[in-house]
Amino acid sequence: MTSTSTVAGWYNANANLEHNRLITNRLEFAISLHIIQQSLSSLPPTTGPKEILDLGGGTGRYAVELAKQGHNVTLVDISQTELEQARLHAQESGVALANITCANALDIRSVQEVFRENYYDLVLCQGPLYHLLSIDERLHVLHSCMTATKRGGFVIAAFVTKYAHLRDLAQREPLRLVMEAGFYAEYLETGQYTRNPRNVGHHTYREEVGALFGTCVGREGEVGVRLEVERMVACESFLGGGLAAGLNGLDEEGFRRWFEVALGAAEDLDVGTGDHLLVVARKVVSEVV
Ligand SMILES: C[S@@+](CC[C@H](N)C(=O)[O-])C[C@H]1O[C@@H](n2cnc3c(N)ncnc32)[C@H](O)[C@@H]1O
Repeated sequence: MTSTSTVAGWYNANANLEHNRLITNRLEFAISLHIIQQSLSSLPPTTGPKEILDLGGGTGRYAVELAKQGHNVTLVDISQTELEQARLHAQESGVALANITCANALDIRSVQEVFRENYYDLVLCQGPLYHLLSIDERLHVLHSCMTATKRGGFVIAAFVTKYAHLRDLAQREPLRLVMEAGFYAEYLETGQYTRNPRNVGHHTYREEVGALFGTCVGREGEVGVRLEVERMVACESFLGGGLAAGLNGLDEEGFRRWFEVALGAAEDLDVGTGDHLLVVARKVVSEVV
């Protein structure tokens, strides 16, 4: 079982750092937002705004951007401090979020003001899944995301790859793999990163993520539902491990050119060089289970 209070404590203490994370990871933000927008525009046109739940949305970087585009965004996170920052960020950006609620993704089903079955056009889950240690916990949260999504709508979830950590280790402390052989044998097997007592994480790889979505099935009345993975995207494309940092200071035109090149390769998953993996899955009707 994951100590989610440890996770909350970490983000409460690092809310500022977290707010600036997507400025220092400009390419990750640009590619992820682009994929989210593409998914939204592939939905059938509706007269009103799209309903979006941003679960684990932190300081609201995506939520505010999507609200600026006219969508109704509900922001939920386990960190109260990050949500206070999100409130400020929304205010400064001149947008209103539909709801800002502090809750644990594991308990989201019991939070009546935000959890509604078959309601959201899009549920974002870019955070909780890579802080949950057990497969049962990850499946539970993914299942809640699916239930809250309309049939035909999207769940877009982020994961951290094992390669991200291993790349970082190779650059900064390569000997640790040898000195802490026991820990790393287990890490490579389970993906559980429990070495830092102040936070916990789960790192993964493409096949494991595919299997998680493959087992996420449910039933709604007489109808069976499941999540069908449509895209898997490396958010930093081939520039994971900090290699995209050089793009941060580029002007709009320079960044746009790099963005286009990087986006073109972001779904070439043989690469595996991104640090974050973004999975776009559609909720579809299936055989009754
Ligand atoms: C690395 S941040 C990502 C924030 C934002 N979604 C983004 O993509 O930049 C991870 C976020 O997930 C939130 N989080 C982690 N575990 C959670 C849980 N069990 N329930 C709700 N939020 C959680 C954290 O508080 C944090 O805001």
